[in-house]
Amino acid sequence: MNGSSAAHHHRRLQLPYLSVILAVAVLVATVNGGEFTDSSAIISRFQQYLRINTAHPEPNYYKAADFIVSVANSLSLESQILEFVKGKPLVLLKWPGRDSSLPSILLNSHTDVVPAEHEKWAHAPFDAHLDTSSGHIYARGSQDMKCVGLQYLEAIRKLQNSGFRPLRTVYLSFVPDEEIGGFDGAKKFADSEVFKKMNVGVVLDEGLASPTENYRLFYAERCPWWLVIKATGAPGHGAKLYDNTAMENLLKSIESVRRFRAAQFDLVKAGLKAEGEVISVNMVFLKAGTPSPSGFVMNLQPSEAQAGFDIRVPPTMDAVSLERRIAEEWAPASRNMTFELGQFKHKVSVFDKFGKPILTSADSSNPWWALLEEAIRNANGKLGKPEIFPASTDARYFRELGLPAIGFSPMSNTPILLHDHNEFLNKDEYLKGIDIYESIIKGYASYVEHLKDEASRDEL
Ligand SMILES: *[C@@H]1O[C@H](CO)[C@@H](O)[C@H](O)[C@H]1NC(C)=O
Ligand SMILES: [Zn+2]
Repeated sequence: MNGSSAAHHHRRLQLPYLSVILAVAVLVATVNGGEFTDSSAIISRFQQYLRINTAHPEPNYYKAADFIVSVANSLSLESQILEFVKGKPLVLLKWPGRDSSLPSILLNSHTDVVPAEHEKWAHAPFDAHLDTSSGHIYARGSQDMKCVGLQYLEAIRKLQNSGFRPLRTVYLSFVPDEEIGGFDGAKKFADSEVFKKMNVGVVLDEGLASPTENYRLFYAERCPWWLVIKATGAPGHGAKLYDNTAMENLLKSIESVRRFRAAQFDLVKAGLKAEGEVISVNMVFLKAGTPSPSGFVMNLQPSEAQAGFDIRVPPTMDAVSLERRIAEEWAPASRNMTFELGQFKHKVSVFDKFGKPILTSADSSNPWWALLEEAIRNANGKLGKPEIFPASTDARYFRELGLPAIGFSPMSNTPILLHDHNEFLNKDEYLKGIDIYESIIKGYASYVEHLKDEASRDEL
């Protein structure tokens, strides 16, 4: 809504009155339609958010929270700051729906970013420099994921200006600590009483940039299993050939892991599977040898050797057979191999709390999926095929509760630069993403379930 139509109705009033009305009209237009919604104001708000240094290990969370709350106030959203852990504020915003009994929509984003090696950037990572010739905005967090957090809010501004009122309540959460595991952020939030009361029906969270024109949607993510195996064997002279040394025992495991890794990677190289659809295994450390002042003792075969692996398991995979493979081939007791630190140093279950694979249905059986695809297409967005996120995001904490959670960051024709030097997002891509969210939020917040069962019962 803006003031120009109001001025028309008063055309017959005398000039002094008219100018007062016009002045009011201009003021209303400036607040509702003008200054806040022209694209330079939108971009400058994005830059403001990007300039707040929320990089680990000392993220300025309070400054980010103040900024989010100030934007929320300009939209008259209800806001509260939750501090599950002191010093780690989580901003929760609410746009109340007309029917508070319906499950709500949660739009999640994290406020923290990974550190940047300043000297390796062409533009300082917290300057949010806008390159006027390319339109690229350079900043840590421009892709991961301050863009998304603010796009949600800009989309709400547009919907409000168009007069839209949500049927379902829309919540926005701005969470800390995603980049360090989310334990003090999204996890505590998902497990909280506050969250339970929100009656969330669907969650949107982050995805990845797409170098093609197709946006990417993520319905699951691979679960990290961090495995440390240890081999033991009789020590001996470095010149002696004998069986069952610790090194030999470990090397057999490493060979077995290597064969498995190559077979998985071949599927990706051949284009038969996407990165998120295979099990990745990467050796991340090797620890063995007998230290000496100048390095290692060279004529002694050690009695112990260890190796660590980062394994990522898609929830669509048979986790039981992988565990069997680990126990029988990678760390068999028969070869004097043991697991360090229990079986795994860290292991995320491939099942949710109901024992179902931890994934969101990516087909028409899930109305939220269908609605999302439709909303994106309605806003002229193109889509690739549903994907499994190769690494971890906060979405898993919501999926663990059995909730549908979809990973999406509207960035097409954009190189994947999260956690990289010179991370950027083009301003037009950012603006387009706002239109996409406008369509999604409108679709989600208006969604009325067709009560198929009741309807068919009535017919009978
Ligand atoms: C395992 O350790 C035992 C006891 O040290 C040894 O007798 C046996 O040969 C070892 N087996 C292998 C396969 O290393
Ligand atoms: Zn992220």
